Amino acid sequence: MKIYEPYSLKSKNTFGIDVKAHAFISIESLKELLDLCIQNKPNLLLGGGSNMLLLNDIERDVWSYDVKGIGVIKEHDDHVLVEVQSGEVWHDLVLWAVENNFGGIENLALIPGKCGAAPIQNIGAYGVELKDILHAVYAVEKSTARQLAFHKESCEFAYRDSIFKRAYKDRLVITSIVLRLSKKGYHKLNLSYGAISKTLEERGISKPSIKDVAQAVIDIRSSKLPDVTKIGNAGSFFKNPVIPIAQFENLQKDFPNIVSYPVDEKTIKLPAAWLIDKAGWKGKMHGGASCYEKQALVLINKDKATGADVYELSSKIIASVKEIYGIELEREVNLIS
Ligand code: EPU
Repeated sequence: MKIYEPYSLKSKNTFGIDVKAHAFISIESLKELLDLCIQNKPNLLLGGGSNMLLLNDIERDVWSYDVKGIGVIKEHDDHVLVEVQSGEVWHDLVLWAVENNFGGIENLALIPGKCGAAPIQNIGAYGVELKDILHAVYAVEKSTARQLAFHKESCEFAYRDSIFKRAYKDRLVITSIVLRLSKKGYHKLNLSYGAISKTLEERGISKPSIKDVAQAVIDIRSSKLPDVTKIGNAGSFFKNPVIPIAQFENLQKDFPNIVSYPVDEKTIKLPAAWLIDKAGWKGKMHGGASCYEKQALVLINKDKATGADVYELSSKIIASVKEIYGIELEREVNLIS
């Protein structure tokens, strides 16, 4: 265990917001975690800091569960079960899987953050969500130091949502996840997302490998999402709203070009990026925060933004989208104070 007091969290959140933590504790084993839980002191658990907005200094201890390790725990003819310790960086896991020819997470390349955070919001991109390959989640309950196991079915996964954001919010440290990945000859590629098939076609690849798909995703993401090491951001700041079809048909009368994706017979999903873009927010600034020029769903730390700058910009966008389209956008990013 390593303890730093006090500690600037600037390098620990991808927005690069400069706030202080009373103390920062790097936890290096399960035993250390269990010992800390028994002390039962107020704390904030940080993953990769890629889906949060820090609003002010943090008075409680900040915990980082930094245990790493990736291993095949069971092998079948067509698939393997892989256990990944929470401290692994998600993209490193994707690269490991591609290198070992294990399929299922290639569409999720370059998503920032650590593996332990992945189930919380059921990370997803390009037609694949974590729930499609997740097998189990292991966690420790902070207040009791009890070790818990969640099978996929008990995780209550939905679009950017899970039991870990609801009943278990802030109560657990996820210590490892188990994924079910396909073996060579049994891969089921998901090329449904137009940009992937278009990129592969442009490259003359008709029978893509999982490596080809991962590379296409890396290139697409790099072309429109800002690199967190250069421009502070937390990916999509808002969720894509799901609305009743009747409401959508009304909107279509005023906005005939509105983009949409089918969900079920009653509801439809709209790209929040389209709503924000057409409302004129791209490139607009508030304090040091700005709406990204290449993807309107992403808010960025353009110039030494504070958490309040980003928060106020997001509130203005929510109010403007509500006024124009009558739709209330929901933040995907967690607000931390
Ligand atoms: N669009 C605009 N203006 C823009 C950007 C997009 O009008 O500035 C419209 C376009 O019509 C485009 C549509 O919005 O076709 C959708 O845009 P995009 O394909 O970039 O995807 P998204 O819906 O904005 C979602 C996820 C991303 C994920 C991509 C790809 C959410 C909240 N976001 O974005 O996830 O990478 O799809 O699957 O679901 C994240 O969660 O941090 C994230 C980056």
